[in-house]
Amino acid sequence: MKKQRTTVFRCSACGHEEPKWLGRCPECGEWNTLTETAVSGLARMGGSAGLKGKAGLPQSLPLASVDPQEGSRISSGIQELDRVLGGGIMKRSAVLVGGEPGIGKSTLLLQAAAAVDTRGRVLYIAAEESAGQVRMRADRLGLFDGPGAGTAAPGGAASAIEICCSARLEDIQAVIEALKPVIIIVDSVQTLHTDEAGLVPGTVNQMKFCAWELISWVKDHDAALFLVAHVTKDGIISGPKTLEHMVDAVLYFEQNEGDSRFLRAAKNRFGSVDEIGIFTMGERGLAGVEDPGRLFLTHREGDLPPGVAIAAVLEGTRTLLVEIQALTVEAKGAVSRVFSDRIDNARVSRVAATLEKHLNLRLADHDLYVNVAGGVRIAEVGVELALAAAIYSARTGLSLPSGAVMAGELSLAGEVRPIRRLPGRIRAAGSLSFTHFVGPREEEPALGHAAGRAPGIPPGRGDPHDLPKLSTVGSIKEAVKVLFT
Ligand code: TYD
Ligand code: MG
Repeated sequence: MKKQRTTVFRCSACGHEEPKWLGRCPECGEWNTLTETAVSGLARMGGSAGLKGKAGLPQSLPLASVDPQEGSRISSGIQELDRVLGGGIMKRSAVLVGGEPGIGKSTLLLQAAAAVDTRGRVLYIAAEESAGQVRMRADRLGLFDGPGAGTAAPGGAASAIEICCSARLEDIQAVIEALKPVIIIVDSVQTLHTDEAGLVPGTVNQMKFCAWELISWVKDHDAALFLVAHVTKDGIISGPKTLEHMVDAVLYFEQNEGDSRFLRAAKNRFGSVDEIGIFTMGERGLAGVEDPGRLFLTHREGDLPPGVAIAAVLEGTRTLLVEIQALTVEAKGAVSRVFSDRIDNARVSRVAATLEKHLNLRLADHDLYVNVAGGVRIAEVGVELALAAAIYSARTGLSLPSGAVMAGELSLAGEVRPIRRLPGRIRAAGSLSFTHFVGPREEEPALGHAAGRAPGIPPGRGDPHDLPKLSTVGSIKEAVKVLFT
């Protein structure tokens, strides 16, 4: 049964409705006035042949007769990608994958094309590369290694991939109709063009029109679509942004220092946007990092230098241990300034002001530099206690003990506030052999919360010797006392 449309494009100037997006309203001639809106219930039923009764009246259908497989998930075969998508690729969905050129979008999607858990066809539309270039990448990734490799009929995981080198919508549609793929990858959406949407190729209208045609196709055919989009460093390319409302999920690939990359969801109709995928780029493509615990820690022998503190922060369901670095130098100008590009400037200023007020730490005549080792961007509130400790350590020249990890939110009153999932953070620190955890006092002491015992960790679970000693503190003053004496 053909899936009914649940949205239409309505002209904001004259109210005219179109089933698909157009740059110009055919009714009133206005440009860029069509916006996607939900079809009203009656109109939707009236518009669907499948739901009309004999007299052409709208009809319902038994819920039991709806195919439960419609819109089910399939695994991409890449755990970190599945995680960000919310547990696999949703059929009848469209996913936009954005990122700077060279970050690994094509690599990720080619790896997924080879690994995806389906018996159906996977169509890779190379709209900006030649078939040979894609084949070379596949060989580098070892996608044809396997039974039959090197023969005229290559085996390996990639044998189900079909490639189409065209950016012309009409050609792509013909291929799709003939092949009926389950997964369609368009690399990239920015190069698509069609004769139907105006004369100038490469315009936003062209791209939106083509994207919408392909999205409609997968919605009607139990397939899934990935659209690759190049985004510049400042993220301002307007083109792909205009696609965000048309797709079900928007994933952005983001580069840390070194080889690691985060895949973040900016939008996900079928899952949370908290989870991130963590990858490292190697000689044979992207490898998922399931346990990122130590990924961003710098190996150090002996004491920590002043200004360095280890924080246990959350990224989705996982805990990352990251090294926060602070440096204070006498201000050259009349006003002190904050330089921090991995932790929000406003957060750093607020924590510094709190230290100044509640610990009499003189910072007003100092410039403050903050960094996170590995170049990871941290937006989680639990980082504040470690940030405060790093700034305190930098300004006083006193080092933190090397086995210490901390997590906690800092209030303006100088209190250390409770944070989400403290037990998980403590466990992560323990599993990486840290010996001391400083965190907030929980309002409701969790199970087994005795002195020195981590809360929420039932006795008998894991070796208690693996858990760090726990110090709970109510204020930044207390924390400094625990950490620096
Ligand atoms: P690519 O997937 O082409 O990036 P995008 O599609 O986002 O522009 O990959 C970009 C970089 O990754 C390129 O500089 C080469 C490098 N790379 C590796 O380091 N290892 C590999 O196995 C592959 C395939 C690429
Ligand atoms: Mg590419």
